[in-house]
Amino acid sequence: MEYHVKSGDPSALRTACLVLGVFTRRQLAGPARQIDQASNGHLSAILKKGDMEGETGQSLMLYDIPGIQAERILLVGLGAEKELTLKSVITAWAGAVKQLNESSVIEVTNALCALEIKETDLAQRLRESVIAAEDQVYRFDQCKSEAKPPKRPLKKLSLFIGEQKKSQAVLRAVSQGEAIAGGITLAKNLSNLPGNLCTPSYLADQARQLGKQSTKLKISVLEEKQMQSLGMGSLLSVSRGSREPAKLIVMEYKGGKPKSKPVVLIGKGLTFDAGGISLKPAAAMDEMKYDMCGGASVMGAMAACVRMELPINLVVIVPSSENLPDGAANKPGDIVTSMSGQTIEILNTDAEGRLILCDALTYAERFDPAAVVDVATLTGACIIALGSQASGLLSNDDKLAAELLEAGNRATDRAWQLPLWDEYQEQLKSNFADMANIGGKGAGTITAACFLSRYAKKFKWAHLDIAGTAWRSGDQKGATGRPVSLLSQFLLKRAGQAK
Ligand code: BES
Ligand code: MN
Ligand code: ZN
Repeated sequence: MEYHVKSGDPSALRTACLVLGVFTRRQLAGPARQIDQASNGHLSAILKKGDMEGETGQSLMLYDIPGIQAERILLVGLGAEKELTLKSVITAWAGAVKQLNESSVIEVTNALCALEIKETDLAQRLRESVIAAEDQVYRFDQCKSEAKPPKRPLKKLSLFIGEQKKSQAVLRAVSQGEAIAGGITLAKNLSNLPGNLCTPSYLADQARQLGKQSTKLKISVLEEKQMQSLGMGSLLSVSRGSREPAKLIVMEYKGGKPKSKPVVLIGKGLTFDAGGISLKPAAAMDEMKYDMCGGASVMGAMAACVRMELPINLVVIVPSSENLPDGAANKPGDIVTSMSGQTIEILNTDAEGRLILCDALTYAERFDPAAVVDVATLTGACIIALGSQASGLLSNDDKLAAELLEAGNRATDRAWQLPLWDEYQEQLKSNFADMANIGGKGAGTITAACFLSRYAKKFKWAHLDIAGTAWRSGDQKGATGRPVSLLSQFLLKRAGQAK
Protein backbone atom coordinates (compact mmCIF):
# COMPACT_ATOMS: atom_id res chain seq x y z
CA MET A 1 0.00 0.00 0.00
CA GLU A 2 1.10 3.50 -0.80
CA TYR A 3 0.64 6.18 1.86
CA HIS A 4 0.28 9.96 1.64
CA VAL A 5 -0.46 12.68 4.15
CA LYS A 6 -2.88 15.45 3.22
CA SER A 7 -3.79 18.63 5.05
CA GLY A 8 -5.80 21.82 4.53
CA ASP A 9 -9.40 22.22 3.38
CA PRO A 10 -11.19 18.84 3.21
CA SER A 11 -13.61 20.00 0.55
CA ALA A 12 -10.65 20.48 -1.81
CA LEU A 13 -9.42 16.89 -1.43
CA ARG A 14 -9.33 15.11 -4.77
CA THR A 15 -10.02 11.54 -3.86
CA ALA A 16 -12.15 8.60 -4.96
CA CYS A 17 -13.53 8.23 -1.46
CA LEU A 18 -13.39 10.38 1.65
CA VAL A 19 -14.06 8.62 4.95
CA LEU A 20 -15.83 10.84 7.49
CA GLY A 21 -17.17 10.19 10.97
CA VAL A 22 -20.62 10.61 12.48
CA PHE A 23 -21.29 10.56 16.22
CA THR A 24 -24.54 9.29 17.70
CA ARG A 25 -27.61 11.48 17.21
CA ARG A 26 -26.32 12.26 13.73
CA GLN A 27 -23.58 14.63 14.88
CA LEU A 28 -21.00 15.27 12.18
CA ALA A 29 -17.41 14.84 13.37
CA GLY A 30 -14.63 17.39 12.68
CA PRO A 31 -13.93 17.58 8.93
CA ALA A 32 -17.41 16.19 8.21
CA ARG A 33 -18.81 19.50 9.46
CA GLN A 34 -16.61 21.42 7.03
CA ILE A 35 -17.78 19.19 4.19
CA ASP A 36 -21.36 19.81 5.25
CA GLN A 37 -20.84 23.55 5.00
CA ALA A 38 -19.07 23.32 1.65
CA SER A 39 -21.91 21.21 0.28
CA ASN A 40 -24.58 23.53 1.61
CA GLY A 41 -25.87 21.17 4.25
CA HIS A 42 -25.97 18.14 1.95
CA LEU A 43 -24.70 15.75 4.65
CA SER A 44 -27.04 16.90 7.37
CA ALA A 45 -29.96 16.77 4.96
CA ILE A 46 -29.16 13.14 4.18
CA LEU A 47 -28.70 12.27 7.84
CA LYS A 48 -32.07 13.82 8.60
CA LYS A 49 -33.65 11.16 6.42
CA GLY A 50 -32.68 8.74 9.14
CA ASP A 51 -30.47 6.25 7.30
CA MET A 52 -27.70 6.56 9.84
CA GLU A 53 -27.65 7.48 13.50
CA GLY A 54 -23.89 7.37 14.04
CA GLU A 55 -23.82 4.15 16.04
CA THR A 56 -20.60 2.16 15.86
CA GLY A 57 -20.63 -0.35 13.02
CA GLN A 58 -22.92 1.78 10.82
CA SER A 59 -21.79 3.12 7.48
CA LEU A 60 -23.32 4.93 4.54
CA MET A 61 -21.84 5.52 1.09
CA LEU A 62 -22.76 8.79 -0.61
CA TYR A 63 -22.22 9.87 -4.23
CA ASP A 64 -22.30 13.15 -6.13
CA ILE A 65 -21.96 15.47 -3.18
CA PRO A 66 -22.12 19.09 -4.39
CA GLY A 67 -19.42 21.64 -3.65
CA ILE A 68 -16.54 19.24 -2.96
CA GLN A 69 -13.86 17.46 -4.96
CA ALA A 70 -14.22 13.94 -3.51
CA GLU A 71 -16.10 11.49 -5.74
CA ARG A 72 -17.66 9.64 -2.82
CA ILE A 73 -18.06 9.98 0.89
CA LEU A 74 -18.18 7.02 3.21
CA LEU A 75 -19.80 8.00 6.49
CA VAL A 76 -18.88 5.73 9.40
CA GLY A 77 -20.51 5.62 12.82
CA LEU A 78 -18.29 6.49 15.79
CA GLY A 79 -20.73 6.13 18.69
CA ALA A 80 -21.16 8.77 21.39
CA GLU A 81 -18.83 11.76 21.00
CA LYS A 82 -18.09 11.85 24.73
CA GLU A 83 -16.99 8.22 24.74
CA LEU A 84 -14.71 8.52 21.72
CA THR A 85 -11.60 6.36 22.06
CA LEU A 86 -8.74 5.52 19.76
CA LYS A 87 -10.11 2.00 19.64
CA SER A 88 -13.57 3.06 18.42
CA VAL A 89 -12.10 5.30 15.72
CA ILE A 90 -9.69 2.61 14.55
CA THR A 91 -12.45 -0.01 14.52
CA ALA A 92 -14.61 2.26 12.34
CA TRP A 93 -11.69 2.93 10.02
CA ALA A 94 -10.90 -0.78 9.77
CA GLY A 95 -14.51 -1.45 8.75
CA ALA A 96 -14.22 1.19 6.02
CA VAL A 97 -10.99 -0.32 4.68
CA LYS A 98 -12.52 -3.78 4.58
CA GLN A 99 -15.55 -2.52 2.67
CA LEU A 100 -13.49 -0.46 0.19
CA ASN A 101 -10.91 -3.19 -0.40
CA GLU A 102 -13.73 -5.39 -1.66
CA SER A 103 -15.27 -2.63 -3.78
CA SER A 104 -14.05 -1.00 -6.98
CA VAL A 105 -12.42 1.91 -5.12
CA ILE A 106 -8.63 1.66 -5.17
CA GLU A 107 -7.77 4.92 -3.46
CA VAL A 108 -9.16 6.43 -0.25
CA THR A 109 -8.64 9.37 2.09
CA ASN A 110 -9.09 8.92 5.82
CA ALA A 111 -10.33 12.08 7.53
CA LEU A 112 -10.77 10.31 10.87
CA CYS A 113 -7.08 10.98 11.62
CA ALA A 114 -7.97 14.64 12.10
CA LEU A 115 -10.26 13.90 15.05
CA GLU A 116 -8.90 14.79 18.45
CA ILE A 117 -9.14 11.88 20.86
CA LYS A 118 -8.46 12.00 24.60
CA GLU A 119 -4.99 10.80 25.60
CA THR A 120 -3.72 10.32 22.05
CA ASP A 121 -1.59 12.43 19.78
CA LEU A 122 -1.63 12.77 16.02
CA ALA A 123 1.39 10.48 15.61
CA GLN A 124 -0.40 7.71 17.44
CA ARG A 125 -3.56 8.09 15.36
CA LEU A 126 -1.54 7.97 12.14
CA ARG A 127 0.43 4.89 13.21
CA GLU A 128 -2.73 3.07 14.23
CA SER A 129 -4.54 4.02 11.01
CA VAL A 130 -1.76 2.52 8.92
CA ILE A 131 -1.57 -0.61 11.07
CA ALA A 132 -5.35 -1.14 10.92
CA ALA A 133 -5.41 -0.70 7.14
CA GLU A 134 -2.65 -3.25 6.59
CA ASP A 135 -4.42 -5.60 8.98
CA GLN A 136 -7.59 -5.43 6.87
CA VAL A 137 -5.93 -6.05 3.52
CA TYR A 138 -3.83 -8.94 4.85
CA ARG A 139 -4.42 -12.32 3.23
CA PHE A 140 -2.75 -15.67 3.74
CA ASP A 141 -2.96 -17.76 0.61
CA GLN A 142 0.57 -19.14 0.39
CA CYS A 143 -0.81 -22.66 0.68
CA LYS A 144 -3.63 -22.36 -1.86
CA SER A 145 -2.90 -23.65 -5.35
CA GLU A 146 -4.87 -20.73 -6.74
CA ALA A 147 -5.08 -17.46 -4.80
CA LYS A 148 -8.27 -15.43 -5.23
CA PRO A 149 -7.38 -11.88 -4.22
CA PRO A 150 -9.96 -9.04 -4.43
CA LYS A 151 -10.42 -7.88 -8.02
CA ARG A 152 -9.68 -4.21 -7.32
CA PRO A 153 -7.83 -4.02 -4.01
CA LEU A 154 -6.99 -0.73 -2.34
CA LYS A 155 -3.64 0.60 -3.52
CA LYS A 156 -3.34 4.12 -2.22
CA LEU A 157 -4.26 5.57 1.10
CA SER A 158 -4.18 9.22 2.14
CA LEU A 159 -4.29 10.32 5.74
CA PHE A 160 -5.97 13.68 6.22
CA ILE A 161 -4.72 15.62 9.24
CA GLY A 162 -6.80 18.81 9.05
CA GLU A 163 -5.15 22.19 9.34
CA GLN A 164 -1.94 20.86 10.85
CA LYS A 165 1.35 21.04 8.98
CA LYS A 166 2.86 18.00 7.32
CA SER A 167 5.84 17.89 9.67
CA GLN A 168 8.76 15.44 9.87
CA ALA A 169 7.11 13.94 12.94
CA VAL A 170 3.95 13.26 10.97
CA LEU A 171 5.79 11.54 8.14
CA ARG A 172 7.83 9.56 10.62
CA ALA A 173 4.69 8.36 12.37
CA VAL A 174 3.36 7.04 9.06
CA SER A 175 6.55 5.16 8.30
CA GLN A 176 6.58 3.80 11.84
CA GLY A 177 3.05 2.58 11.24
CA GLU A 178 4.24 0.82 8.10
CA ALA A 179 7.17 -0.71 9.98
CA ILE A 180 4.95 -2.04 12.76
CA ALA A 181 2.43 -3.33 10.23
CA GLY A 182 5.31 -5.11 8.51
CA GLY A 183 6.20 -6.78 11.81
CA ILE A 184 2.58 -7.81 12.31
CA THR A 185 2.42 -9.27 8.81
CA LEU A 186 5.60 -11.25 9.44
CA ALA A 187 4.15 -12.59 12.70
CA LYS A 188 0.88 -13.53 11.01
CA ASN A 189 2.62 -15.28 8.13
CA LEU A 190 4.84 -17.34 10.41
CA SER A 191 1.87 -18.16 12.65
CA ASN A 192 -0.56 -19.16 9.91
CA LEU A 193 1.91 -21.54 8.31
CA PRO A 194 1.14 -25.14 9.32
CA GLY A 195 3.33 -27.18 11.64
CA ASN A 196 4.75 -29.36 8.88
CA LEU A 197 6.18 -26.29 7.15
CA CYS A 198 6.85 -23.98 10.08
CA THR A 199 9.27 -26.12 12.09
CA PRO A 200 11.91 -24.91 14.56
CA SER A 201 14.43 -25.04 11.69
CA TYR A 202 12.14 -22.95 9.52
CA LEU A 203 11.80 -20.31 12.23
CA ALA A 204 15.58 -20.25 12.58
CA ASP A 205 15.94 -19.74 8.82
CA GLN A 206 13.44 -16.90 8.93
CA ALA A 207 15.42 -15.27 11.71
CA ARG A 208 18.56 -15.54 9.59
CA GLN A 209 16.69 -13.91 6.70
CA LEU A 210 15.75 -11.03 8.97
CA GLY A 211 19.37 -10.76 10.00
CA LYS A 212 20.27 -9.76 6.45
CA GLN A 213 18.20 -6.59 6.76
CA SER A 214 20.57 -4.71 9.03
CA THR A 215 24.23 -4.73 9.95
CA LYS A 216 23.10 -3.89 13.48
CA LEU A 217 21.32 -7.24 13.75
CA LYS A 218 23.20 -10.42 14.59
CA ILE A 219 21.56 -13.85 14.54
CA SER A 220 22.76 -16.95 16.28
CA VAL A 221 21.00 -20.27 16.51
CA LEU A 222 21.90 -22.68 19.28
CA GLU A 223 21.63 -26.36 18.29
CA GLU A 224 20.63 -29.15 20.68
CA LYS A 225 24.25 -30.04 21.29
CA GLN A 226 25.03 -26.52 22.49
CA MET A 227 21.90 -26.47 24.61
CA GLN A 228 23.06 -29.73 26.09
CA SER A 229 26.37 -28.24 27.14
CA LEU A 230 24.56 -25.25 28.65
CA GLY A 231 22.50 -27.67 30.70
CA MET A 232 19.11 -26.82 29.20
CA GLY A 233 17.64 -30.09 30.39
CA SER A 234 14.12 -28.74 30.61
CA LEU A 235 13.89 -27.40 27.07
CA LEU A 236 15.57 -30.49 25.64
CA SER A 237 13.20 -32.83 27.48
CA VAL A 238 10.31 -31.38 25.48
CA SER A 239 12.15 -31.73 22.21
CA ARG A 240 13.13 -35.36 22.85
CA GLY A 241 9.65 -36.49 21.87
CA SER A 242 9.96 -34.95 18.42
CA ARG A 243 11.95 -35.72 15.26
CA GLU A 244 12.51 -32.06 14.50
CA PRO A 245 15.57 -30.71 16.28
CA ALA A 246 14.95 -27.90 18.76
CA LYS A 247 16.51 -24.49 18.13
CA LEU A 248 17.24 -21.60 20.41
CA ILE A 249 17.07 -18.55 18.18
CA VAL A 250 18.91 -15.46 19.41
CA MET A 251 18.65 -12.12 17.63
CA GLU A 252 20.73 -9.20 18.88
CA TYR A 253 20.03 -5.70 17.63
CA LYS A 254 22.46 -2.97 18.61
CA GLY A 255 20.87 0.37 17.82
CA GLY A 256 21.63 2.00 21.17
CA LYS A 257 24.75 3.05 23.01
CA PRO A 258 27.17 0.12 23.36
CA LYS A 259 26.85 0.12 27.12
CA SER A 260 23.12 0.61 27.44
CA LYS A 261 21.37 -2.48 28.76
CA PRO A 262 19.15 -4.28 26.26
CA VAL A 263 15.48 -5.05 26.46
CA VAL A 264 15.10 -8.81 26.05
CA LEU A 265 11.97 -10.25 24.44
CA ILE A 266 11.42 -14.00 24.68
CA GLY A 267 8.74 -15.77 22.63
CA LYS A 268 7.41 -19.30 22.95
CA GLY A 269 8.13 -21.00 19.63
CA LEU A 270 6.34 -24.32 20.04
CA THR A 271 5.66 -25.11 16.38
CA PHE A 272 3.11 -27.80 17.21
CA ASP A 273 1.68 -28.75 20.59
CA ALA A 274 -0.03 -32.15 20.60
CA GLY A 275 0.37 -32.22 24.37
CA GLY A 276 2.95 -35.01 24.35
CA ILE A 277 2.09 -38.15 26.34
CA SER A 278 -0.60 -36.09 28.10
CA LEU A 279 -2.15 -35.94 24.64
CA LYS A 280 -4.67 -33.23 23.84
CA PRO A 281 -8.19 -34.09 22.63
CA ALA A 282 -8.60 -34.10 18.83
CA ALA A 283 -11.06 -31.21 18.57
CA ALA A 284 -9.38 -28.07 17.21
CA MET A 285 -5.95 -29.60 17.72
CA ASP A 286 -4.94 -28.07 14.37
CA GLU A 287 -4.93 -24.72 16.16
CA MET A 288 -1.93 -25.85 18.15
CA LYS A 289 0.16 -24.87 15.13
CA TYR A 290 -0.38 -21.42 16.68
CA ASP A 291 1.62 -22.37 19.75
CA MET A 292 4.55 -20.48 18.25
CA CYS A 293 2.69 -17.17 18.05
CA GLY A 294 4.71 -15.75 20.95
CA GLY A 295 7.92 -16.48 19.05
CA ALA A 296 6.46 -15.03 15.86
CA SER A 297 5.39 -11.88 17.71
CA VAL A 298 8.81 -11.14 19.17
CA MET A 299 10.36 -11.72 15.75
CA GLY A 300 7.77 -9.31 14.35
CA ALA A 301 8.64 -6.75 17.02
CA MET A 302 12.31 -7.15 16.11
CA ALA A 303 11.50 -6.64 12.42
CA ALA A 304 9.61 -3.45 13.28
CA CYS A 305 12.42 -2.20 15.52
CA VAL A 306 15.01 -2.80 12.80
CA ARG A 307 12.91 -1.02 10.20
CA MET A 308 12.34 1.94 12.51
CA GLU A 309 16.06 1.91 13.34
CA LEU A 310 15.22 2.54 16.99
CA PRO A 311 18.15 3.82 19.06
CA ILE A 312 17.93 0.99 21.59
CA ASN A 313 19.54 -2.36 22.20
CA LEU A 314 17.15 -5.27 21.78
CA VAL A 315 17.62 -9.00 22.17
CA VAL A 316 15.01 -11.49 20.97
CA ILE A 317 15.14 -15.12 22.10
CA VAL A 318 12.89 -17.82 20.66
CA PRO A 319 13.12 -21.28 22.20
CA SER A 320 11.59 -23.48 19.52
CA SER A 321 10.47 -27.10 19.62
CA GLU A 322 7.56 -29.43 18.92
CA ASN A 323 5.64 -31.23 21.67
CA LEU A 324 4.67 -34.71 20.46
CA PRO A 325 4.07 -38.15 21.97
CA ASP A 326 6.89 -40.58 21.25
CA GLY A 327 8.89 -43.31 22.95
CA ALA A 328 11.48 -40.77 24.00
CA ALA A 329 8.97 -38.11 25.07
CA ASN A 330 8.58 -36.82 28.62
CA LYS A 331 6.37 -39.04 30.76
CA PRO A 332 4.24 -37.80 33.64
CA GLY A 333 6.37 -38.08 36.75
CA ASP A 334 9.67 -37.55 34.94
CA ILE A 335 12.05 -35.16 36.66
CA VAL A 336 14.34 -32.89 34.64
CA THR A 337 17.03 -30.39 35.60
CA SER A 338 16.79 -26.91 34.13
CA MET A 339 19.76 -24.73 33.16
CA SER A 340 19.25 -22.82 36.43
CA GLY A 341 19.91 -26.03 38.37
CA GLN A 342 16.34 -26.18 39.68
CA THR A 343 14.63 -29.54 39.18
CA ILE A 344 11.13 -29.95 37.76
CA GLU A 345 8.68 -32.80 38.14
CA ILE A 346 6.68 -33.02 34.94
CA LEU A 347 3.21 -33.96 36.09
CA ASN A 348 1.59 -33.02 32.79
CA THR A 349 3.60 -33.10 29.57
CA ASP A 350 1.13 -30.62 28.04
CA ALA A 351 2.45 -27.88 30.31
CA GLU A 352 5.50 -27.72 28.04
CA GLY A 353 5.60 -24.00 27.29
CA ARG A 354 7.02 -23.15 30.70
CA LEU A 355 9.55 -25.97 30.29
CA ILE A 356 11.09 -24.39 27.22
CA LEU A 357 10.70 -20.81 28.46
CA CYS A 358 12.43 -21.38 31.79
CA ASP A 359 15.72 -22.26 30.13
CA ALA A 360 15.39 -19.30 27.76
CA LEU A 361 14.86 -17.03 30.79
CA THR A 362 18.01 -18.34 32.43
CA TYR A 363 19.86 -17.85 29.16
CA ALA A 364 18.67 -14.22 29.10
CA GLU A 365 20.73 -13.48 32.24
CA ARG A 366 23.89 -13.23 30.15
CA PHE A 367 22.60 -10.10 28.42
CA ASP A 368 22.31 -8.20 31.70
CA PRO A 369 18.88 -7.01 30.60
CA ALA A 370 17.19 -3.72 31.48
CA ALA A 371 13.93 -5.70 31.34
CA VAL A 372 12.76 -9.06 30.08
CA VAL A 373 9.31 -9.63 28.57
CA ASP A 374 8.24 -13.11 27.57
CA VAL A 375 5.29 -13.71 25.27
CA ALA A 376 3.56 -17.08 25.14
CA THR A 377 0.37 -18.93 24.25
CA LEU A 378 0.79 -20.47 27.65
CA THR A 379 -2.53 -21.42 29.20
CA GLY A 380 -6.06 -22.28 28.12
CA ALA A 381 -7.01 -20.77 31.48
CA CYS A 382 -6.15 -17.32 30.15
CA ILE A 383 -8.86 -17.69 27.50
CA ILE A 384 -11.32 -18.53 30.27
CA ALA A 385 -10.21 -15.50 32.30
CA LEU A 386 -9.91 -12.80 29.63
CA GLY A 387 -11.34 -14.20 26.39
CA SER A 388 -9.95 -12.68 23.22
CA GLN A 389 -9.97 -9.02 24.26
CA ALA A 390 -6.91 -8.75 26.48
CA SER A 391 -3.64 -10.59 26.82
CA GLY A 392 -2.83 -11.64 30.38
CA LEU A 393 -0.01 -9.69 32.01
CA LEU A 394 1.96 -10.75 35.06
CA SER A 395 5.13 -9.16 36.35
CA ASN A 396 7.60 -9.01 39.20
CA ASP A 397 7.91 -5.24 38.68
CA ASP A 398 4.92 -2.91 38.90
CA LYS A 399 6.56 -0.15 36.89
CA LEU A 400 7.31 -2.48 34.02
CA ALA A 401 3.74 -3.82 34.20
CA ALA A 402 2.33 -0.28 34.06
CA GLU A 403 4.54 0.50 31.07
CA LEU A 404 3.25 -2.52 29.17
CA LEU A 405 -0.39 -1.86 30.05
CA GLU A 406 0.01 1.70 28.82
CA ALA A 407 1.68 0.51 25.61
CA GLY A 408 -1.22 -1.87 25.04
CA ASN A 409 -3.79 0.89 25.52
CA ARG A 410 -2.01 3.18 23.11
CA ALA A 411 -1.62 0.45 20.54
CA THR A 412 -5.25 -0.73 20.83
CA ASP A 413 -3.67 -4.09 21.68
CA ARG A 414 -4.62 -4.32 25.31
CA ALA A 415 -3.37 -6.40 28.20
CA TRP A 416 -4.81 -6.88 31.68
CA GLN A 417 -2.78 -7.55 34.78
CA LEU A 418 -3.31 -10.59 37.00
CA PRO A 419 -1.73 -10.95 40.46
CA LEU A 420 1.51 -12.81 41.02
CA TRP A 421 1.21 -13.12 44.78
CA ASP A 422 3.54 -15.42 46.64
CA GLU A 423 0.61 -17.41 47.99
CA TYR A 424 0.04 -18.89 44.55
CA GLN A 425 3.57 -20.31 44.51
CA GLU A 426 2.47 -23.00 46.96
CA GLN A 427 0.43 -24.64 44.22
CA LEU A 428 3.66 -25.66 42.48
CA LYS A 429 4.90 -27.84 45.33
CA SER A 430 6.33 -31.21 44.31
CA ASN A 431 7.02 -34.15 46.59
CA PHE A 432 10.02 -35.19 44.56
CA ALA A 433 11.56 -32.17 42.82
CA ASP A 434 12.03 -28.43 43.45
CA MET A 435 8.74 -27.73 41.73
CA ALA A 436 5.99 -29.32 39.69
CA ASN A 437 5.24 -28.05 36.20
CA ILE A 438 1.52 -27.66 36.94
CA GLY A 439 -0.30 -25.89 39.74
CA GLY A 440 -3.55 -27.79 40.05
CA LYS A 441 -7.06 -26.67 39.30
CA GLY A 442 -7.36 -22.98 40.10
CA ALA A 443 -5.60 -19.92 38.68
CA GLY A 444 -3.86 -21.75 35.82
CA THR A 445 -2.55 -18.59 34.18
CA ILE A 446 -1.14 -17.33 37.45
CA THR A 447 0.55 -20.57 38.48
CA ALA A 448 2.13 -20.81 35.02
CA ALA A 449 3.55 -17.32 35.56
CA CYS A 450 4.61 -18.30 39.09
CA PHE A 451 6.60 -21.12 37.55
CA LEU A 452 8.35 -18.70 35.16
CA SER A 453 8.97 -16.17 37.93
CA ARG A 454 11.32 -18.68 39.57
CA TYR A 455 13.61 -18.26 36.58
CA ALA A 456 13.28 -14.49 36.41
CA LYS A 457 14.59 -13.47 39.81
CA LYS A 458 17.65 -11.69 38.48
CA PHE A 459 15.89 -9.06 36.39
CA LYS A 460 12.76 -6.99 35.91
CA TRP A 461 10.42 -9.31 34.14
CA ALA A 462 6.94 -9.43 32.70
CA HIS A 463 4.99 -12.23 31.09
CA LEU A 464 2.27 -11.86 28.44
CA ASP A 465 -0.09 -14.82 28.08
CA ILE A 466 -1.51 -14.48 24.57
CA ALA A 467 -3.48 -17.75 24.43
CA GLY A 468 -6.71 -15.81 23.84
CA THR A 469 -5.41 -13.00 21.65
CA ALA A 470 -2.87 -14.49 19.23
CA TRP A 471 -5.33 -16.04 16.82
CA ARG A 472 -9.01 -16.28 15.99
CA SER A 473 -10.91 -19.57 15.74
CA GLY A 474 -13.97 -20.40 13.66
CA ASP A 475 -14.60 -19.26 10.11
CA GLN A 476 -12.36 -16.23 10.61
CA LYS A 477 -9.57 -18.53 11.75
CA GLY A 478 -6.20 -16.85 11.48
CA ALA A 479 -3.38 -15.22 13.37
CA THR A 480 -3.96 -11.68 14.69
CA GLY A 481 -0.32 -10.64 14.94
CA ARG A 482 -0.91 -9.63 18.57
CA PRO A 483 0.93 -8.42 20.58
CA VAL A 484 3.42 -7.03 18.03
CA SER A 485 1.67 -3.69 18.24
CA LEU A 486 1.87 -3.55 22.04
CA LEU A 487 5.54 -4.56 21.98
CA SER A 488 6.40 -2.02 19.29
CA GLN A 489 4.72 0.72 21.25
CA PHE A 490 6.67 -0.34 24.32
CA LEU A 491 9.93 -0.19 22.35
CA LEU A 492 9.04 3.18 20.79
CA LYS A 493 8.51 4.56 24.27
CA ARG A 494 11.78 3.10 25.51
CA ALA A 495 13.47 4.71 22.52
CA GLY A 496 11.94 8.06 23.46
CA GLN A 497 9.90 8.19 20.26
CA ALA A 498 6.40 8.05 21.71
CA LYS A 499 4.66 10.13 24.32
N1 BES B 1 -0.26 -24.22 24.31
C1 BES B 1 -1.07 -24.64 25.41
C2 BES B 1 -2.00 -23.54 25.92
C3 BES B 1 -3.18 -23.25 25.04
C4 BES B 1 -4.24 -24.15 24.95
C5 BES B 1 -3.25 -22.08 24.36
C6 BES B 1 -5.32 -23.85 24.15
C7 BES B 1 -4.34 -21.77 23.55
C8 BES B 1 -5.37 -22.66 23.44
C9 BES B 1 -0.17 -25.05 26.56
O1 BES B 1 0.99 -25.68 26.21
C10 BES B 1 -0.97 -26.02 27.37
O2 BES B 1 -1.27 -27.06 26.88
N2 BES B 1 -1.30 -25.63 28.60
C11 BES B 1 -2.07 -26.44 29.45
C12 BES B 1 -1.49 -26.34 30.83
C13 BES B 1 -2.09 -27.32 31.79
C14 BES B 1 -1.71 -28.72 31.42
C15 BES B 1 -1.61 -26.99 33.17
C16 BES B 1 -3.51 -25.93 29.43
O3 BES B 1 -3.72 -24.72 29.42
O4 BES B 1 -4.42 -26.75 29.39
MN1 MN C 1 0.73 -27.76 25.92
ZN1 ZN D 1 1.75 -25.26 24.38
